[in-house]
Amino acid sequence: MSTPDAADRELTVALLGGGTVGSQVARILRENADDLAARAGARLRLTGVAVRDAGRAREGVDPDLVTTDAAALAAGGADVVVELMGGIEPARSLILTAMRAGSSVVTANKALVAEDGATLHAAAEENGVDLYYEASVAGAIPLLRPLRESLAGDKVRRVLGIVNGTTNFILTKMDEEGADYAEVLAEAQALGYAEADPTADVEGHDAAAKAAILAGLAFHTRVRLSDVTFEGITRVSAQDVAAARDMGFVIKLLAVAELSPDESGLVVRVHPTMVPRTHPLAGVRGAFNAVFVEAEAAGQVMFYGRGAGGAPTASAVLGDIVAAARNRVSGTRGPGESTYADLEVLPIGAAVTRYYVNLHVADRPGVLAAVAQAFADHDVSIQNVRQDGKGEEAGLVVRTHTARDSALSATIEALRSMDAVRSVVGVMRVEGEEGR
Ligand code: NAP
Ligand code: HSE
Repeated sequence: MSTPDAADRELTVALLGGGTVGSQVARILRENADDLAARAGARLRLTGVAVRDAGRAREGVDPDLVTTDAAALAAGGADVVVELMGGIEPARSLILTAMRAGSSVVTANKALVAEDGATLHAAAEENGVDLYYEASVAGAIPLLRPLRESLAGDKVRRVLGIVNGTTNFILTKMDEEGADYAEVLAEAQALGYAEADPTADVEGHDAAAKAAILAGLAFHTRVRLSDVTFEGITRVSAQDVAAARDMGFVIKLLAVAELSPDESGLVVRVHPTMVPRTHPLAGVRGAFNAVFVEAEAAGQVMFYGRGAGGAPTASAVLGDIVAAARNRVSGTRGPGESTYADLEVLPIGAAVTRYYVNLHVADRPGVLAAVAQAFADHDVSIQNVRQDGKGEEAGLVVRTHTARDSALSATIEALRSMDAVRSVVGVMRVEGEEGR
């Protein structure tokens, strides 16, 4: 059987959104048209770009294609509809409209996929179309397809990574320049790394949505944003960063999705984490992203690259457009949702990790023993302790072996109620160390 000549066939593509990512997708569709046609097996013709403000000049976008009627474009029956507007509504309704009209859908919308991926997958199934969302996690980095396809024969035990470029930029600057959070945030905003409203990034929502998507694919379980326990970086101080540095660690905002020790469930969490400087994730600087996948047969696999930006994200979107187009040409569909494992998503208390605890205590006989006893009472084993005298008070830094998160929380509560403990200055989880 001969392959159909790409020149004989044309597929239509409609863009919902012509902003940072959408305009780059339009540009690459035009500039790489011949190569994309050869790869997809059909020429890809852009039929429209829906925006809010049609009067704005958009580099890379043919003004004749711009429309403010997103609903009509979504319902127009293009072969592939690409949603790059962001947010939950009207993006979700437009995607459902497009699928009902027989269009395959490509989206970069992590918020929507994490919040209501089930509805989107069900609609794709019902209408016999594809749903791809590679660009929704870690921008340019091929990550979802490897999880969904390349690692489909393995058993993933853990996914661990830096999936938010804005916060990694801020934490890197804090580490390298000793600067304060607020100071670096202002600089990141001035440079365009952080948005005017940085809440979704700095409070951890963005990373939590990505963690939910990664966990769902890695563990064949439906995981929603509300299943993820998350904390952002707004409370990370220059002192925390300096203390981490003194101990040979760096602070990163990590997304972690892992099987519970008895494999009965999953824990998915996002929080500032101390990582040894020797760990590969410690070397991921600035706005870059990196994700470690630990699988039974493969061992550790690391993915690294640009997690944001118009052109890098457009690269992932284009990959999905070509995949959806190829499927159209060959009359097949890509893989659908895989949630057969249906694992329970457990609260963070079930997580097992190590901790760093920084205390200010009274410097008198018996205090160290009492503090150590509080850890022992909750079955948390101490790995090492460092004490610095500060006159009447002492600074005590305790690092633990692995323990259950719930046990550590109970320990901290007990420490807070002790007379000799003046304040709990900092508590942070530690990842990436070998051993127990
Ligand atoms: P953006 O620059 O704000 O662009 C959004 C586009 O959608 C704009 O063209 C906007 O029109 C249009 N739009 C929004 N609401 C609309 C509505 N109700 N009707 C018609 N058009 C509407 O956003 P972006 O940065 O390109 O991000 C797009 C998606 O990609 C989001 O889901 C985002 O999370 C995801 N993503 C972005 C990046 C990144 O680095 N930027 C990385 C990974 C994933 P106007 O131009 O007229 O305002
Ligand atoms: N705001 C995100 C980040 C990029 O800083 O990584 C879009 O996913």
